[in-house]
Amino acid sequence: MTKVLVVGSGGREHTLAWKLGQSADLEALYCAPGNAGMAAVATNLDIADSDIDGLVAAAWEHAIDLVVVGPEAPLAAGLADSLRAAGFLVFGPNQAAAQIESSKSWAKEIMEEWGIPTGQAQVVTSLEGARVALDQAGLPVVVKADGLTTGKGVYVCATRDEADDAVARLMQEGIFGDAGATVLIEEFLEGLEVSVLALTDGETILPLLPACDYKRIGEGDTGPNTGGMGAYCPPAAISAADMEQVVREIIAPTLSGIRARAGEYRGVLYAGLIMTASGPKVLEFNCRFGDPETQVVLPMLASDLLELCLATARAELASAPALEWHDGGCVAVVLASGGYPGSYDTGLPISGLDALPDGGLAIHAGTAVADGELVTAGGRVLAAVGRGGTLADARRLAYETADAISFEGAYRREDIASRELP
Ligand code: GLY
Repeated sequence: MTKVLVVGSGGREHTLAWKLGQSADLEALYCAPGNAGMAAVATNLDIADSDIDGLVAAAWEHAIDLVVVGPEAPLAAGLADSLRAAGFLVFGPNQAAAQIESSKSWAKEIMEEWGIPTGQAQVVTSLEGARVALDQAGLPVVVKADGLTTGKGVYVCATRDEADDAVARLMQEGIFGDAGATVLIEEFLEGLEVSVLALTDGETILPLLPACDYKRIGEGDTGPNTGGMGAYCPPAAISAADMEQVVREIIAPTLSGIRARAGEYRGVLYAGLIMTASGPKVLEFNCRFGDPETQVVLPMLASDLLELCLATARAELASAPALEWHDGGCVAVVLASGGYPGSYDTGLPISGLDALPDGGLAIHAGTAVADGELVTAGGRVLAAVGRGGTLADARRLAYETADAISFEGAYRREDIASRELP
């Protein structure tokens, strides 16, 4: 029997906790810091995901067998290294390998060294360097912060003025601090955007079903970027042959590159891809599960997630059974606070979670309990999730679930999974 600690507090981590909670091998589940939804399936510990010493101490105190790290920031800060040094099994890469997400220029170097298809990019560290790179680049052009920006440091610029403005925000105003001190000026690529996540112990690669997420706040993919307004799985346009190509040409050589530079990689490798006319190309890599992709991929997984996480952490994926999946599809519709991704109120009562339609699932992201009442506590509050025999059935159930939930000012997109992206 296994005692597990999940690190994190968002929708991704609630989904991980929900799925881990279904394992017959689970003895106890702790989350740090968790959210109100996770409290229903686990014991929440009041420890921030940035408190590495506190998390190691909690792992000792609760005799944890396996730590599953949700977000990228603790991995980039070395949480997995500290836990492994203390003797714990960890699902999540060490700090050096997490650079595949925490440094876009490091990831680009690996892609160049190993011939991995991606957009052409120039890495610049000064305003003058950015000006020269933009003079040489075509339009549209992508301006990207090198470091971690919770997905907000990527600007797709249609005009030179927009590109200059993006560079100024990153390098002059420093809106993301050091994360924007180095900038990538990158080729714009067109096609269907797909997230392919793979469980890996650095050698064996078990790709999960592909998924598509919706980053913009407005319907028809308009308005500012968000942490993700919804997702669906799997996209019909991605064939088994596409997935084999992605593993062969992208995931496998990337892991070779990571191994050569940083040693082992145990966790999930997330490839953000664009399916161009000349094949899949990499937009970005992440060193953790996607959010909100996790909310649609894990409900499709019929296999035992705890068994898979343990095999990954022990580098025994080669002997893990083949992944099993439910038929059909899964859709997640995010319910956000009015005003998000700008300013918004919190502390608003949430109702309806006790009367969800059969099979509908409410995944918590920004929720809290105040005076015994469930209230909003973040920009993205909940995801209404539906799985069905077809993607259309899944979509219907996700929106019925969303209809059942209410809080003042709740905002959602009405077009999640209504058509194939882009
Ligand atoms: N859905 C985008 C991400 O997880 O980074």
